[in-house]
Amino acid sequence: MSETTETTYKPTSPNSKLDFASVWEYDPAPESTANVKVKERYELFIDGKFVKPSKGRYFPSTNPATKEVITEFAEATQNDIDQAVKAARKAFKNEWSSLSGKTRGKYLYRIARMLQERAREFAILESMDGGKPIRESRDVDIPLVAAHFFYYAGWADKLEYAFPGKTPEPIGVCGQIIPWNFPLLMLAWKIAPALACGNTVVLKPAETTSLTALKFAELVQDAGLPSGVVNIVTGAGQTGAEIVNHKDIDKIAFTGSTGVGKLIQKSIAGTGKKFTLELGGKGAMIIFEDAPVDQAVEGIINAIFFNQGHVCCAGSRLLVQEGIVDQVIRKLQDRMEMLIVGDPLDKNTDVGAINSEAQFETVNKYLQIGLDEGADVYQSKCEIPENGYFIRPTLLTNVAQSNRVVQEEIFGPVLTVQTFRTADEAITKANNTQYGLAGGVWTDKGSKIFKVGAGLRSGVVWANTYNKFDPTSPFGGYKESGVGREGGLHGLAAYVNLR
Ligand code: NAI
Ligand code: MG
Repeated sequence: MSETTETTYKPTSPNSKLDFASVWEYDPAPESTANVKVKERYELFIDGKFVKPSKGRYFPSTNPATKEVITEFAEATQNDIDQAVKAARKAFKNEWSSLSGKTRGKYLYRIARMLQERAREFAILESMDGGKPIRESRDVDIPLVAAHFFYYAGWADKLEYAFPGKTPEPIGVCGQIIPWNFPLLMLAWKIAPALACGNTVVLKPAETTSLTALKFAELVQDAGLPSGVVNIVTGAGQTGAEIVNHKDIDKIAFTGSTGVGKLIQKSIAGTGKKFTLELGGKGAMIIFEDAPVDQAVEGIINAIFFNQGHVCCAGSRLLVQEGIVDQVIRKLQDRMEMLIVGDPLDKNTDVGAINSEAQFETVNKYLQIGLDEGADVYQSKCEIPENGYFIRPTLLTNVAQSNRVVQEEIFGPVLTVQTFRTADEAITKANNTQYGLAGGVWTDKGSKIFKVGAGLRSGVVWANTYNKFDPTSPFGGYKESGVGREGGLHGLAAYVNLR
């Protein structure tokens, strides 16, 4: 581990009376990887075939839980992107845009069913390449991936009903750039609605988690999708920029950091390219004194510690009404002590590995910033594996609204805790960041849910729950959290021109 792990803070002793070591002991329950095949190297998927990158360059992908290199991906450069866009244009013109919606729907249903058949394989690969617990990839990510393909398959032959009185037409070739926190799910959010509406795509997965996208390319071949409808190109930021700047792309769909989102907006300004941007977040969870506290604590744990806090809509700020703050913190600490942090492929694991060395350093940097700003730091006292990129679930208390740890996206298992007295104060604090992606409220009173829900400037507000997703509901941000919506009917609208 890099020296940054040993920051100067020491876990404080919890106010707890439980002896956790004697409460939970699970035997290891590792998922078998015996039937999963990972090639030594993956090529680019262009025009229905796997092709070598023009410059012959490859880069490694590691398993962040072990730091072992598991495979290598091809680096796509300008010429490769050009080939991919040409293939997508040809497929758009000659075939896909003129197929009946019913036929496009059949292909999407086929993809959805094949994803379900191979769900376990995809889940294992997702956990190996990205570090998320198998329980998450198996029970959340991959089922939602299939659900998105099923959902948009259903729309493919009903587009005129989706937009009554208008004639929907596909946009053309879509360039899609996705991040590493939900690799295959972000691919599904992008590819399923695009294809349903008759567009073709050039998609770039994140450089640390491209494996499931390339396995998906194999599945696309097996499904017999016409060549060039889906093209998958791998590489880092430069490859993404080549897609953004390609002249024959009609739309850019991006999910990732606000910094890169702004760069993309600058690059395409004045070009007429359409775009949707899903960017960062700093979600606030507001807990009122009348809330069911145990249920709220479980929701908070889910909102920030599962998936290592690598969630753009994560609830990374907790706002607790003053009268119950001690109780909430004590219960949170008790629950944090029960979280199992470790091997992502173990079915008991709650918190897996931080996705990459770079992200590991970012989160540790923020922990140090928190200390420097005077926060009190509480971390679970669990053992963590020595070898990979792991960070203990962390609470930062004694923080101020102006602190960087309260304002900036940390994207790790780190929760800040503040207090409030009135609903208006909670709303003001919740809205006081550059972001506006998601928020949550816990209370027994419907009236408070409506008041807070209406007051929060964020794309999603969950009530008495958190991080619930469904293909039918739109998702997206206010302010610097992005432009446009994905999911549901709104997600369909982002992939059509209406006449
Ligand atoms: P990033 O925004 O650099 O990466 C996201 C995707 O954009 C990747 O596929 C990357 O290769 C690509 N990309 C990078 N530079 C590009 C450029 N100039 N033009 C086109 N594409 C480009 O995010 P990164 O560096 O991996 O993470 C940094 C921070 O971003 C995280 O700490 C987190 O705060 C935030 N983030 C937010 C996500 C979200 O879901 N909203 C997802 C991932 C990261
Ligand atoms: Mg990896």
